[in-house]
Amino acid sequence: MPSPGPDGIDIGPGLGPAADAGRRPGLDRLLSRLRHIVGDAHVVTDPDAMAGFLIDWTGRHRGQADAVLRPRTTDEVSRAVVECAEVDAEICAQGGNTGLVGGSVPPSDRAGSRPRIVISTARMTDIDDVDVIGRCVGVQAGATVEAIDARAGAVGLAFGVDLASRHSATAGGVVATNAGGIRMIRRGNTRAQVLGIEAVLADGRILRRWTSLVKDNVGYDLPGLLTGSEGTLAVITRVLFRLVVPPRASIVAVAAIDRVADAVELIGTAASRGLTVEAAELMTEAGIALVAAHGHRRPTAASGPFYVLLEVSGPGDVESAAVELLQGAGGLIDAVLEPGPARALWGAREAHTETIARSSVTPVVKLDISVPIRALAEVFDELGAVGDRNDSPCRPVLFGHVGDGNIHVNLLDVPPDRVDDLTDRVFGIVTAHGGSISAEHGIGRAKVAWTHLGREAADLATMRAIKGALDPRGVLNPGVLFA
Ligand code: FAD
Ligand code: MLT
Ligand code: ZN
Repeated sequence: MPSPGPDGIDIGPGLGPAADAGRRPGLDRLLSRLRHIVGDAHVVTDPDAMAGFLIDWTGRHRGQADAVLRPRTTDEVSRAVVECAEVDAEICAQGGNTGLVGGSVPPSDRAGSRPRIVISTARMTDIDDVDVIGRCVGVQAGATVEAIDARAGAVGLAFGVDLASRHSATAGGVVATNAGGIRMIRRGNTRAQVLGIEAVLADGRILRRWTSLVKDNVGYDLPGLLTGSEGTLAVITRVLFRLVVPPRASIVAVAAIDRVADAVELIGTAASRGLTVEAAELMTEAGIALVAAHGHRRPTAASGPFYVLLEVSGPGDVESAAVELLQGAGGLIDAVLEPGPARALWGAREAHTETIARSSVTPVVKLDISVPIRALAEVFDELGAVGDRNDSPCRPVLFGHVGDGNIHVNLLDVPPDRVDDLTDRVFGIVTAHGGSISAEHGIGRAKVAWTHLGREAADLATMRAIKGALDPRGVLNPGVLFA
């Protein structure tokens, strides 16, 4: 029986229906009912066709399932979940499968006899007409971030969530993970963009909280609760998103700097001079050298130990204000600036994730932490040194959303039996500084063993009680968030 490896890596065979599928009572009848609901073509059981749905973006997590279901409407999802509930089938909701913590694929083991279905939102891509006056738009869960932003852009508005996975990441996915991303410093996280939600509960009932009202205090904030629930409380089918007014013009600057503290200071100075900080990202020479080796343009002529990318907007002549800002910056080695969107300057930053993934001989250990901004420089130093010890050598590449105190810690070339030890080491540093072990990617399967570091006992018990109330049979994304 396949099981998680000693280092927490899923080593099960994954990638397809298990050979013992015949042991699952009710499976054949379930599949035939699901075919009746969504059509034969959209109940995928062929191992090759299922393969892409059963391995996560990092390549670390491989799952097993009996079928991948591709519904088109909320009603189809609801009817399918009712059928699944009859035989206690487990359900893994999947959007663009760009999640980085293994939550988008089912478990690798098949210890129990329950059927297991992946519900993919790939066909649920409708986007309603934008409500220009109310500045909001309703979308189906499978609409991508890029498509939502394009629809908003057509009427002079923008989607407040943006991230390098925009081409594939979906509405359901960003809501289920409460994604952060590059606009978080300006617009807040995904939860701040959610006005309403429609979701299918574990028994198939449709929960709908759908209002564009700015003020509405009738009871618990259920859309807020489902945001960040990582597929463990319901299958999200539609979302009503707030839209934002984009800046008329922005300037993107990348500066090579001496110290992390210089980046923090630059953000503070920009704000105090009346500039609006639209994005603030930090990179290191290790990351820039890596992406440059993979064909991306180095942002500045002279290199520095650190690089800060700042996008600013504001009243008046933003370019002159940005030049003045950089001229007065502490620790400045070199800088370039371009009017937004400055895709090439952003390119070196946004290429980090993919380049890092391609550059490691073992699946990258991706940790996504946040610390109080005042501790950022010290934590950066300590995290940069985690690979120096002889017992667990590795190549760390750190980057992140510096204005949010969020550092993406990527450890390359980690031998499989050292993953847990290095993770412990990183999380030890983070908790010692009062930080969080998951800033924006969530817990998924990858961080379950460490959740207690971020939440106290009563807090964890309350979360379990909520899970028990909404999903008493534990069929929604088992193994995600809770062991
Ligand atoms: P998936 O990966 O398919 O699923 C993620 C989780 O959401 C799973 O637990 C899944 O079960 C659940 N889920 C998906 N759809 C539904 C649904 N309809 N109902 C219920 N649950 C659902 N993340 C950030 O926060 N900030 C970043 O800046 C960022 N940048 C990235 C850049 C790259 C290049 C990549 C590859 C990833 C990045 N991510 C980032 C991670 C990822 O893109 C986000 O977590 C995103 O929100 C996942 O969306 P998805 O549609 O791919 O979801
Ligand atoms: C990013 O900010 O680019 C992401 O969160 C992805 C990553 O951590 O690699
Ligand atoms: Zn990020």
